[in-house]
Parts: sequence; C-alpha cells; structure tokens
Amino acid sequence: MSARPTIATGPAAKGKPVTLSTMAERKALGEPIAMVTAYDYPSAQVAEEAGVDVVLVGDSAAMTVLGYPSTVPVTVEEMLMLAAAVRRGLRTPLLVGDLPFGSYEVSNEQAVATAQRFVKEAGCDAVKLERGGSSVERARAIVDAGIPVMGHVGLTPQTATALGGYRSQGRTAERALEVALDAKALEEAGCFSIVFEAIPSDLTDEIMPSLQVPVIGIGAGPSTDGQVLVFHDLLGIYDGHAARFVKRYAAIREEMIAGVQAFAEDVRARRYPEPEHGYTMAPDECERLRALLAHDG
Ligand code: KIV
Repeated sequence: MSARPTIATGPAAKGKPVTLSTMAERKALGEPIAMVTAYDYPSAQVAEEAGVDVVLVGDSAAMTVLGYPSTVPVTVEEMLMLAAAVRRGLRTPLLVGDLPFGSYEVSNEQAVATAQRFVKEAGCDAVKLERGGSSVERARAIVDAGIPVMGHVGLTPQTATALGGYRSQGRTAERALEVALDAKALEEAGCFSIVFEAIPSDLTDEIMPSLQVPVIGIGAGPSTDGQVLVFHDLLGIYDGHAARFVKRYAAIREEMIAGVQAFAEDVRARRYPEPEHGYTMAPDECERLRALLAHDG
C-alpha cells in the first residue's frame, strides 16, 4: 500500500488514518461510518477537513465532473488521474477507487491488473467493484492478490440498462433474495465492506443480521453501518436529476454562479481590478523604462 502524503491542517488531519480494522471496529461498536465521494485535490481536502471516514473516487465522476451521460464511458486512465489527485489531498480517510465498467469483468487477470494500477499509480487503499454474479470471483481474485475490495449491490449503475434503468432494486421477494445472496457471496469472497444502493429499507433490515462486514448504504435505509452520498449531490454542485435518497446540505452551485456573475459584472463595469489587486514599479524604474523605450523606438 502506498505511503500517505503529509498535508496541511484541519481537525481531521490530526486523526489516525482509517484502516480496514477501524471500519470493523466501528461496526462492532455500532458507530456509523461516513463516506463521501471526491474527484480532485480540493474535494479531497474538503473531505479530509470535514473528518469523513472513507472517500470513494466513484465512477459517478463520469457524470459529475466529466459530463458523460452515464458512468459507462469513463476509462481507467480518467479514473486514475482523478484518484491520484484525490490521494494528494487526503491523509486520514480510507481511499477507495471505483473500478470502471469494462475494466474488471473479462477475467480475474484483468481485474487484478486494473486493481493493481489503482493502488500503484493512484495510491488507493482499496478498490470497489459492482454486482454479484461473476464479480464475486473477480473480487476474490483481487483480495487474493492482496488488495482490499468493497462490493456494491442493489442498483449497480454500470449495468443499469440490464436492471431496467436507474430504479430501486429488490422490490420483489425473488429479486430481494438475489441482492441478499450477492451480498453474502461478496462477503464470503473476502470483501471488507459492501455498498447497498437503492434498495428497500425492509430488505436492508432483513440482510443486515447475516453480514459481518460493514455495510455502507445509499438509499438503503437507516440500518446500514454507514452512509455514502455523492459529493456534488450533497453540496448541490451538480445540476442533474437527483435521486430520491439525496439530501442537499448546501447550495454551492448557486454560490458559484453568483460569484462568477459578480466577477463578470465587475469586469464589464471596470470595478475590477482595484489598486490593491495590482503590482507597482518604483518611479525611478518607470523613468528608466521610458528612457529605454524612447531609445529603442
Ligand atoms: O460511483 C459512485 O459514486 C458510487 C457511490 C454512489 C457508492 O458508486
């Protein structure tokens, strides 16, 4: 696992780095785990200073920061660049990198090779992959290669088309059973934690007693061991459709638009820059310059 950089200040910077044992302890003590996504250096610093436990460089970056219509197109190279930037801004939370669609499904070898890049090149502590089924074997292979894996069941956006779109999962007993079995299989494959996305709270309540690893929920009700939200959703930066489970804690997009508008108005009204925003030259240097220009001209 790569060494964590020392970064500046903030209350969280004083904390001990979050490890897999910390996560397990939190579950044992019944202390909820707070996880957010981050996609660059400043958002990582915000997560650090806010004192969250886990940061996910989610493939939601495809939509929130890269402007793709879904999570499917984002590439390993794009994810690695974002994850490396997050690593540089993070010291305390556990850093999880999301394996993008098409980077792990083909074979165990492909899955291990991609996971190794997230650890070696971006400095991630762990990786996340989506779905049960064949992903269980991929998760086991990555764990066997010494890289911690977080599973993800319920609504798995990479395969949303096959699931009937971006909609909650596990609402029939049969589909709920599939979600429960996938979660158990991922735990047995060695996943240190599992994300439950967009499933009924009743289903979560049914599954929780059978799982030993910490479960992080997003639209899965209150009984999971922790909760995750997408950075841009919770801060109100992203202007797309927000899922039912999103709670907005700020309206940063409006603040950003107002700030940029105020700048543009100041420029047009010649209110910016003011004297304090500029640099000065000593009067004698100015005079010498005039002489030099006159001589050259
Ligand atoms: O990509 C992502 O942001 C995620 C979270 C929603 C868990 O997978």
